[in-house]
Amino acid sequence: MKITVIYATQRKLKSSTYNIAQRFIRQLSDGDIVTEFFLPKDMPNFCIGCWNCFTDFKKCPDYPYLEPIVESILGADMLIFTAPVYVYHVPGQLKAFLDHFGYQWMAHQPRKEMFGKQALLISTAAGAGTKSTLKDLKDSMTFWGIARIYTFGRNVYASDWDTVDDKKKLKLQREIDKLSVKIKAGSENIKPSLKIKVLFYAMRFMHKKFRFNPSDVRHWEEQGWLEKERPW
Ligand SMILES: Cc1cc2nc3c(=O)[nH]c(=O)nc-3n(C[C@H](O)[C@H](O)[C@H](O)COP(=O)(O)O)c2cc1C
Repeated sequence: MKITVIYATQRKLKSSTYNIAQRFIRQLSDGDIVTEFFLPKDMPNFCIGCWNCFTDFKKCPDYPYLEPIVESILGADMLIFTAPVYVYHVPGQLKAFLDHFGYQWMAHQPRKEMFGKQALLISTAAGAGTKSTLKDLKDSMTFWGIARIYTFGRNVYASDWDTVDDKKKLKLQREIDKLSVKIKAGSENIKPSLKIKVLFYAMRFMHKKFRFNPSDVRHWEEQGWLEKERPW
């Protein structure tokens, strides 16, 4: 499957999350295209709160950085995000990246392509915090409308991949193999989970009844979602 990877840091060989992601990619890509982006290099800016994206996402001042990433995401079957735990949450550059996609949360202007994609969210910690870190990512994936979301959070008890215990590496490999088999087995004809569908209908009701933001309502109307069309 076609994969787009967003790495929260530029660490490679020394990084536990990078090494774990590489092992997943080997199993899941089956030789298909894998496009990788590294933060903060590939999207170094913070959201400045100009609200431009809520009327037209191409008017974001950071769109030159975002465009190749957005195009890659739209064309991918699976998104992989990596996030080492930094003080119990995603590294700041990943939060800054996610902030740039507020406009495509389901309450606003979700992209229909998202409802047919899967995401794998990978986090490592020295000892604690993968749950809250994965939640940071999972919130965005859920509200983007991603059909199926898998998480892989592990404590590696190390600062670098080199110092991760060999026994731990073997265990991680077994767990990666197991989750990869599960992901591949469910990769045909992806439909959104019940949770995503329930959220979609709640947002649809909101747009239909209250019509808060004209740009958001226009988007839902253009997609035909306030009538019979559905994004899945
Ligand atoms: C700034 C910073 C903050 C961190 N905060 C935590 C933390 O809250 N909990 C924890 O268990 N490890 C924490 N760590 C350790 C890393 O999460 C851990 O070593 C992780 O595996 C590093 O991933 P990487 O090898 O992919 O860079 C922190 C590391 C850094 C650099």
